[in-house]
Amino acid sequence: MTGGDDLEPPLWEQLAEQRAELPQGIRLQKVLAATGWGSRRVCEELIAAGRVTVNGAVAELGRRVDPDHDRVELDGAPIGVRPGLVYYLLNKPVGVVATSKDTHGRPTVVDLVPADPRVFSVGRLDADTEGLLLMTNDGDLANRIAHPSHGVDKEYLVEVDGGRVSAGGLRALRDGVELDDGPTAPAKVSQPQPGVLRLTIHEGRNRQVRRMCEAIGHPVTRLVRTRIGPVTDRSLPPGEWRELTTDERRRLTEAVARSGHRYDPSL
Ligand code: URA
Repeated sequence: MTGGDDLEPPLWEQLAEQRAELPQGIRLQKVLAATGWGSRRVCEELIAAGRVTVNGAVAELGRRVDPDHDRVELDGAPIGVRPGLVYYLLNKPVGVVATSKDTHGRPTVVDLVPADPRVFSVGRLDADTEGLLLMTNDGDLANRIAHPSHGVDKEYLVEVDGGRVSAGGLRALRDGVELDDGPTAPAKVSQPQPGVLRLTIHEGRNRQVRRMCEAIGHPVTRLVRTRIGPVTDRSLPPGEWRELTTDERRRLTEAVARSGHRYDPSL
């Protein structure tokens, strides 16, 4: 007896109908959580707060996306880590140049990290400066971090000549000092020891810290970068590198986005 078959559509038709009804894409909170933005619950809250956009439009809770094609942003910054992108934190030693090639044949930072994929350094660090340097093949993030208008803080430990810096000298650094390429933005400064400064700036002008200290009469004798936005590491030995953690990458992206500037791919 085949009466049932007459009443029911054939199995393959049922399956096709079910497939057509299946929602397309992956839930946005799942995509956010998978790229390290917190638990799904936290990610739902980000969406509910209107901080997430898909292809430029504020996303609603329940939205599904195709992570390969949709442009998902949090606070205006892309969330995803595309396959093949790497993010290294290097503790650059003195004497190593932060470019890929040096005309004087000095060792370069690319000699200290894996050769494949090819990475480049984010922003500048003088050959005679030590400390933390980000290296990546993610051009977008590199440009956004290095761009002064995005205001990612960089913290330096600075040893200066001339002993204790006076209150007036510290105030000048805090207020901004006049350099030959214009005044510097206000810096955060403390003096943990006489002649040692902890200085935080967000601009990335050429030899800026050295010129700022020179301008207040205290030439720099040693300069170490100790923090880039939220990224710091006291136990990474000079010459060594490690990958950024997912959390560091997320907080770095957040720090760039928080500066209030929308991601501009032309930068
Ligand atoms: N400021 C400097 O003067 N040099 C650096 O390498 C970084 C900041």
